[in-house]
Amino acid sequence: MDKLSIAGPTRLAGTIRASGAKNAALPILAATLLAEEPVVLHNLPRVRDIRTMDRLLCHLGASSELRDDGALVVRGSADGNPDDAPYELVKTMRASALVLGPLLARRGHARVSLPGGCAIGVRPIDQHLAGLEALGATIELEHGYVTASARALHGARFRFAMPTVGGTENLMMAASLARGTTVLENCAREPEIVDLARLLNAMGARLAGAGEETIVIEGVERLGGCEHTVIADRIEVGTYLIGAAITGGDVTVEQCNPADLAPLLAKLSEIGASVEVAAADATTGRGGRIRVAAGGGLRASDVSTAPHPGFPTDLQAQYLALMTQAEGVAAVCETVFENRFQHVPELLRMGADVRCEGPCAYVHGPTPLSGSHVMATDLRASACLVLAALVAEGETVVDRIYHLDRGYENMELKLQKLGAHVRRIHS
Ligand code: EPZ
Repeated sequence: MDKLSIAGPTRLAGTIRASGAKNAALPILAATLLAEEPVVLHNLPRVRDIRTMDRLLCHLGASSELRDDGALVVRGSADGNPDDAPYELVKTMRASALVLGPLLARRGHARVSLPGGCAIGVRPIDQHLAGLEALGATIELEHGYVTASARALHGARFRFAMPTVGGTENLMMAASLARGTTVLENCAREPEIVDLARLLNAMGARLAGAGEETIVIEGVERLGGCEHTVIADRIEVGTYLIGAAITGGDVTVEQCNPADLAPLLAKLSEIGASVEVAAADATTGRGGRIRVAAGGGLRASDVSTAPHPGFPTDLQAQYLALMTQAEGVAAVCETVFENRFQHVPELLRMGADVRCEGPCAYVHGPTPLSGSHVMATDLRASACLVLAALVAEGETVVDRIYHLDRGYENMELKLQKLGAHVRRIHS
């Protein structure tokens, strides 16, 4: 298993470009199963989860081809190999559950392994299944698999028990080919949901309200091909901006959308970092720029994660690392997942002063961190440890960075470009 060796302390400075959003690309790839013609996708991030989803689509009978310009051309298929997303694939990536809606809508049946838990929580898919039943699907759970079938899906009104990103995405895709109108209430509002809606509408679907609490979908007979550019990864961008703040550096990220990071940018300004933005193009959401600079002396400030437009849970671990270097005590509270503080024990080993109580971690800062051997447990916890390593005195070795490779494209190259002393140890 590869490791990252990071020599600290370092001050990050310079300009990098955002990669495409993993969490937009995954549902968008699943949506290609709905199309009767090829779909051309630009700006897909070259990360492990995208390769896993591509493998799953091909297992399901689709075909994909990487063009010289970096675009991926995907040809869905109305039938083909076993309509199942096997446990071997799903256990490595929960987002495999996103093929349920498209398979059901396009082929009338699907068999997908239940994702099982993961490091950050149980993460059930009961809302996905309840929504598909509302559209007329018969759902059976047996031997760790969901088997879903429907002669024809019909429109329905369905209210999610909580805003669920994957649940909203699965239902948007299934309802696109259902007969009649579907009204989804209490939807997730993340920018990745809006990007999926853009793709589906470009394929000929008729969705309105993506990004709001209520989404209305007029079902259509068929969906065609299209060309689409995936939005920038706001979580990747936020990670590097926090890197600028924690190292007292000065980092600019280009080709991103500042509007997608409003809660983080407000928080960085509040704690004393300087934040400059250049807005993205209003229609495409692309071409924006964000610069964060900090000269030390940051102030602690509480944060509570929440579904968009609240502070993203996917930046909680990174922000917690930042608070170890801020003056005062910060309560970092996690309201979305039940077990998303796995990074804390590793930070304690580096010298951080953090006390967990229920849904909150209380971080006392600033505390000097020392380079240590630490272990990544999940994607964003890995990013947190890398950020801590950048300010720690001496060498830090982060183990199990396959977690990192799931969602960060060329992280060590981008960090080296910003002046970090980081190298990958292959093993
Ligand atoms: C998506 O996961 C993201 N993954 C996650 O990013 C992100 O943390 C999460 O949304 C929240 O923003 C992708 O988009 C591929 P949810 P998802 O359904 O869809 C509960 C990363 O680091 N819930 O919005 O699985 C669930 O347990 C990853 O990139 C149910 O109870 O998240 C959780 O507590 C990690 N029943 C909450 O809702 C359901 O049927 C939010 O989950 C569905 C969800």
